[in-house]
Amino acid sequence: MDLILFGPPGAGKGTQAKRLTEMLSIPQISTGDMMRAERAIGSELGKKFDHFMSQGLLVPDDLVLSLFAQRLAQDDAKSGAIFDGYPRTATQAEALDDLLKSRERKIEKVVSIEVPLEEMIERAVGRRSCQDCGHVYHLRYNPPPSPDVCGACSGSLVQRKDDTEETVRTRFDEYLAKTAPLLDYYGKRNLVVPVNGVGELDLVTTRIKEAIGVS
Ligand code: AP5
Repeated sequence: MDLILFGPPGAGKGTQAKRLTEMLSIPQISTGDMMRAERAIGSELGKKFDHFMSQGLLVPDDLVLSLFAQRLAQDDAKSGAIFDGYPRTATQAEALDDLLKSRERKIEKVVSIEVPLEEMIERAVGRRSCQDCGHVYHLRYNPPPSPDVCGACSGSLVQRKDDTEETVRTRFDEYLAKTAPLLDYYGKRNLVVPVNGVGELDLVTTRIKEAIGVS
């Protein structure tokens, strides 16, 4: 199955993708995670990503397309993937269609996770991630055992640089201008299933499973 988890910053795409990946036995492909990993090793590419990410702007397509294509070509994605945060522009959506078509695959569903703006901001600002294992918490909704320590591996928890209120608002503006129009692109093919993203994590997972028809 090839599935897009669609939604604005803080909608819960990454959290839900990780849960679905175990249930569906297909990988999560998150361009945001890949860019942060590149930035963490301090590569030239990572520095270019950082320039845009730290301002809350989308990274230009020419830097994203090959990064994504290389990941999709890996063995674990040969029978499907959950796309988290990709595609985000019309160019990326068309490139994804072409890549899948060349493998005789196509997008089966676009799960659009809907959350009001003020909640998205609260979620992003309260998010903490483990810098060792990547586990994601929220200080209020999904709290770690201690504010600075990961419950899964005892690593240190950090706040993402782009999780300030001001940057989240810029990310949301980018989403509205460049990414939200893709709902029309996929809507014309009847692929979009809206899901209410407000509520307990398990409840949102159940709604997504119902929307994509898995038990
Ligand atoms: P990316 O990393 O993709 O970020 P995003 O799309 O802005 O989404 P987030 O990771 O902020 O949120 P999420 O929906 O995954 O929510 P999460 O599950 O973590 O992109 C970052 C940047 O990289 C972009 O701004 C851009 O610069 C660049 N980039 C990436 N991909 C790109 C592309 N394709 N093209 C161009 N540029 C690209 O949840 C958020 C918080 O809420 C967590 O703390 C979580 O615990 C909590 N939470 C989750 N669900 C619930 C719930 N139901 N109730 C309460 N709390 C919840």
